[in-house]
Amino acid sequence: MAKTRRDKADFYTKKAHKEGYPARSVYKLEEIQASNNIIKPGDKVLDVGAAPGSWTLYTHKELLKAKGSIVAVDLNPLNLNPIPPTVTFFQGDAFSNEIRLKLIENGPYDAIISDAAPMTMGNRNVDTMRSESLAEQVLYLATEHLKPHGNLVIKIFQGGGQQEILKQMRLIFNKAKTTKPKACRTDSFEIFLIGIDKK
Ligand SMILES: C[S@@+](CC[C@H](N)C(=O)[O-])C[C@H]1O[C@@H](n2cnc3c(N)ncnc32)[C@H](O)[C@@H]1O
Repeated sequence: MAKTRRDKADFYTKKAHKEGYPARSVYKLEEIQASNNIIKPGDKVLDVGAAPGSWTLYTHKELLKAKGSIVAVDLNPLNLNPIPPTVTFFQGDAFSNEIRLKLIENGPYDAIISDAAPMTMGNRNVDTMRSESLAEQVLYLATEHLKPHGNLVIKIFQGGGQQEILKQMRLIFNKAKTTKPKACRTDSFEIFLIGIDKK
């Protein structure tokens, strides 16, 4: 029998719980990494919108193999106990002057990954606009603070603006594309923009 959306959500949530991750979103990064090789052991990674911490933990354990370092930032605290030794965490708005300076001081980065999402209002236009604004700010940060040959992942809610951002990414990266991992909820309008090999 075909799985319903709720069964699928339960599958990934249960799997995350069983494997010690605080959120099911880890499987989106796993899929993105499998097809794009975004992060390599030894890299310095910036994780924007990191809480509760599944991407951070997966990056530490599976992608960096505990070699390298991660700067993680979120409005909310990480739900990781303990916080892995490779991780420096800043709590606050990634794009405030204070936090932005700290992110810059700790860079430049080999990879920037952003799963940052606004608190949704249920109004698709407002939610999409806020998501686009976050995505633009992440791209701006990457333009300045991602190393040459570095890779970028940005979550964005689909709504038109992603085409313009993708166009800008094509100027900055040798390859840029969109992807929607299977682990995304079927009713979710999120997609991921991938930039490979910064020029
Ligand atoms: C879908 S969650 C990220 C899940 C995370 N990747 C994980 O695997 O555990 C989106 C996060 O983006 C964060 N966020 C949204 N706007 C932000 C901002 N301006 N600065 C920092 N974090 C932000 C939210 O607080 C939220 O925790």
